Amino acid sequence: NRFFQQEASLKGKHVLITAGPTIEPLDPVRYFSNYSSGKMGYAMAQAAYELGAKVTLISGPVSLDPPLGVQTVQVKSAQEMYEAVMQNLVHADIVVKTAAVADYRPETIAKQKIKKESDSLTIQMVKNQDIAWEIGKQKREDQILIGFAAETDHLADHAKEKLARKGLDYIVANDVTVAGAGFSTDTNIVTLYGRDGEEWTLPKLTKIEVARRLLTYIAENNKMRKR
Ligand code: CTP
Ligand code: CA
Repeated sequence: NRFFQQEASLKGKHVLITAGPTIEPLDPVRYFSNYSSGKMGYAMAQAAYELGAKVTLISGPVSLDPPLGVQTVQVKSAQEMYEAVMQNLVHADIVVKTAAVADYRPETIAKQKIKKESDSLTIQMVKNQDIAWEIGKQKREDQILIGFAAETDHLADHAKEKLARKGLDYIVANDVTVAGAGFSTDTNIVTLYGRDGEEWTLPKLTKIEVARRLLTYIAENNKMRKR
């Protein structure tokens, strides 16, 4: 049926999505994290499911309900997210890295609560593994890798640099300083940059509508592994 063949679909595809922040413990009662709400990643998961994909969502701590029909794995730290992603990578046709992964973690986690003993406190942080970069390095030809970038300045330059450095096929960039495009908002204003130089700016839309348009575009423009 020609009509149905023209509908964008992710039927038979496996989409692996990361969402939310990671939290990096300092002691039993404290952690470092960021403002990610998980809304954009959860919207990507819902949209992928609506398009017919089998969806695995690796989620940092957020206050959202997992989308119906989506297999959700809860993680806390960047290291846990890295392990969960690598365990699921082989099955994935599309990997969507929406998560705001903490760049650094405290070098040591105190076993006991740190007491307020001195007037200043210095915490040594060490770099976390870059999950997207690791995937970019080892992914197969038939796997599509999509990164996200939330920037405050020089959006296009930073986005294109990350696209190349991490071996991504696409990066979805947004300026968090623009009204209606921040971390906890229900809307977003994004530009999609592709490996082959394509550039597509969407109007201000709800995050679920942004997700639907991005995944529809990607389904239409890529040949993925045949099932
Ligand atoms: N990312 C990742 N693992 C990390 C850091 C980032 O997988 N340790 C992914 C994010 O999920 C996102 C993309 O890389 O898809 C871009 O994240 P971003 O924080 O913008 O990139 P960084 O290289 O950390 O650059 P910056 O210095 O701007 O934070
Ligand atoms: Ca970062």
